This record gives sequence, structure tokens and C-alpha cells, in this order.
Amino acid sequence: MENNRPSWTSRFSFILAAVGSAVGLGNIWRFPYIMGQYGGAVFLVTYLLLIVTICFIPLITELAAGKFLKKEIISAYESINPKFKLLGYMNPITGILISSFYFIVGGWIINYIVLSFSNTGIENHAEYFGTFTQSPVATSVYTLLFLFTCIFFAARGVKKGIEFANNTLMPMFAVILICLICFSLSLPNSHLGLEYMFKPDFSKISGHMFLAALGQALFTLSIGMGALFTYGSYIKDDKSILKSTYTIILSDTMFALLAGIMIFPAIFSFGLEPNSGAGLVFVTLPYIFTQIPHGNLISAAFFILLFAAAITSGISIIEVPIASMVERFKLSRTKACVTLFCLIAAIAIPATLSFGVLGDLKLFGKTIFDFLDFITSNILMPLNALFLCLIAGWALKLRGVTLIKNKFFAKLFDIGLKFVVPALLIILLYFGLK
Ligand code: PHE
Repeated sequence: MENNRPSWTSRFSFILAAVGSAVGLGNIWRFPYIMGQYGGAVFLVTYLLLIVTICFIPLITELAAGKFLKKEIISAYESINPKFKLLGYMNPITGILISSFYFIVGGWIINYIVLSFSNTGIENHAEYFGTFTQSPVATSVYTLLFLFTCIFFAARGVKKGIEFANNTLMPMFAVILICLICFSLSLPNSHLGLEYMFKPDFSKISGHMFLAALGQALFTLSIGMGALFTYGSYIKDDKSILKSTYTIILSDTMFALLAGIMIFPAIFSFGLEPNSGAGLVFVTLPYIFTQIPHGNLISAAFFILLFAAAITSGISIIEVPIASMVERFKLSRTKACVTLFCLIAAIAIPATLSFGVLGDLKLFGKTIFDFLDFITSNILMPLNALFLCLIAGWALKLRGVTLIKNKFFAKLFDIGLKFVVPALLIILLYFGLK
């Protein structure tokens, strides 16, 4: 079986796919806002310190464990100890739950691409967004379309599907991003946006800021659901992963910062208030696009950029359950993809409807969409990352010397993996549950 496992064509393809996984909605609509909210440059420095010292550890561990065990994640955990099988299962399940809300936003993006090309004059963008997200048919169709696109690439396999998608979409993403940054910086008063992002506000230093930076780092680096484990398991043996890990971390951070440099100057140039997530991307920016010359074109470029980022992340999320279904349950890749399509659709459609007709249906006081977001980001991902570190550090006995040449840093890695990172993840989980 192991010889039949897919593998990457080159180290470059692997890095591109991993960066494609990391760079997603988390970078474009979450990072810039959180950075502004938590004190700009102060947050940035904390975040950078956190990723190069702490988050680097679960990231390289996921990749290394995947590369070392060369199995889909359930069988991999089981091979370490049969008792860990259940912990393995948590990863593809988390993947299915994440995709069920992530892909809804993917569907919204498709709607806004279509909208950019059709000349519908929208007067009130907040009202439009509200009405659109409540319309059951349109949102369901777009969610399924986004899901289908991810499944389509995944069904074609690692080389022809995943690599192809990343090799075409990631360069396109980078080119559009650079063009949009140039445009945004050319607007009057654009410096105000940069000030908002980078001006250090030391009064914001707090435990909350630290935890916000940690949570953001885990999500944006795709840690804690087996995506990187699975991508790591497709790496050929002779490849070292330390350099790849730093390339992934640096690229992800660079794209997050560039996304902010693209968005905030435009917002401040129009004297608007930066707000979070959905409101920023689907209300504030579309308003700006209607105010500028060639706004339709810029709008299309922006949403295509967002689409590219979300697709490459989406593909990595669904690869975890697909790998399990193919390798563990011996389904053909096509059958696995069809099964997964149905599974995700069965959760995503009710979640889509939770903005409208199913709005009153609450799980622990949250709508289905909010519940899926909460349970994956605040609970399952940190929990999976915690189990991964504990299993790799204590049961698999993964040691720094096998990954890092420098003896001192290798020792620090061991302490981090066995004690520091698990402790921090427990603290994150504790506050995430409050
Ligand atoms: N890292 C992606 C983003 O920033 C989301 C993601 C999470 C992708 C988990 C894969 C696994 O949007």
C-alpha cells in the first residue's frame, strides 16, 4: 500500500501546496483586523515571536510526523498505539466540520465575483449582504459550487489536481495582490491605513492579545486538523523539512501583511471604519469598489484573489478525510470524493440556512454556522494540536536532533514539544471555552 501512496513532484510543489493551505481567508480578512485591534506593530512583534519560537514547533511536528509515518492520520496514530485511533479520527472529522463553514464563505465569494461582472447597482451594501446571506437557494447553490470546485481538484489526485491548483492559483493570487496593493497605496490618505496597522499601541499588551495572536497563528498556519500531516506524508524521504517550515511560516506572514496593506489604505482613504470579517470583506470593500473608477474590475480582481486563496486552503482541508477514506477504508479516490461531497453538503446546507430560515435553531446558544466556527477554531483545532504534540513528543519520541542541526535549538525544540506548547495550548483551550 505504502508504495502506492501519492507524492509531490518536487520540493517546490510541496511548499507551494503548504503555503496554499496556509494562505486563506484567515490571512485576508482576519489577520489585518486583529492586528489593528490589538495594537498594530505590538501585535505584529508578538505574533512574529510566537510563530518563530512556539508555533514553529507544532507546524514542523505535523509535517515531520506525516513524513515519518507515511500513512493517513488515523492509521498513523493507531500505528503508534491502538489507543490513539480515536484521536486520529478527530482530525478528518474536524476537517469536515471546518469545510462546512469555510465553504459557505467560499460560496459568498463566488456570488461577489458574479456580482462584479453584472452591473447591478447596489445602494446599500449592508442590506444587500443581509438579504443575500438569508436567501436559501442562492447561498446553497454557491456553497455547493465552491465545494464542487474543491472536490473536483481533489478528485484528480495529488499531482494532477492539488499541485495543478496550487501551481496556477497561487501565482495568480500573488500577481493580483501586488496590483491591488499598488492601487490601494495610490489612493489619497492611504498612509492612515498603514498607521492603523503598524502604529504600536503599547496599551494593548495583554494576555488576551497574546492568546489572540496564538489562536490566529494556529488557524492561519493550518495547524491542528491533519492538513499539514497529510501533505507531509506525501514528501519523499530525502527531503529535509526545516527550511520548508520556515518558508511556509514566512510566506504566510508576508501574505497576511500584504493583505492588510491592500485593504486598510483603501478603507481609511474613504474615511470608513475597519470592522471585522464578513463586514469588512462583503460590505465595506464592495462599497469602496462602487466609489472608484473601474470599480467592477477591481472588485472582480479582489474576489478572484479571495477565491484562489480559499480554494487552495479548502483543497488541503478535504485532503485529510479523502486520504483516510482512500487508504483506510479502501475507497477509490472518486468514490471518496463523492462520499465527502455528500457529507459536507449535509452539514453545510443547514449551516448556510442558519443565516435565514434556520436562524432560530441554536446549538449551545449559537447558530449552526457560528457553532461550527466556534467548535473547530476554539476547541477541536487546539485540541488536535495538543494531542499531536503529546503523541509526537512522548509516544513517538520525535526529537529535535532529527530535524534541527544546531544542538542547542534541538534541545529547546524537545522542551517546547513536550512541555511548553502543550501548556500554552491548554491555556488557549481554557480561555477559548470561556
Ligand atoms: N489556514 C487557512 C486560512 O488561513 C485555513 C485552514 C485551516 C486551512 C486548517 C487548512 C486547515 O484560511
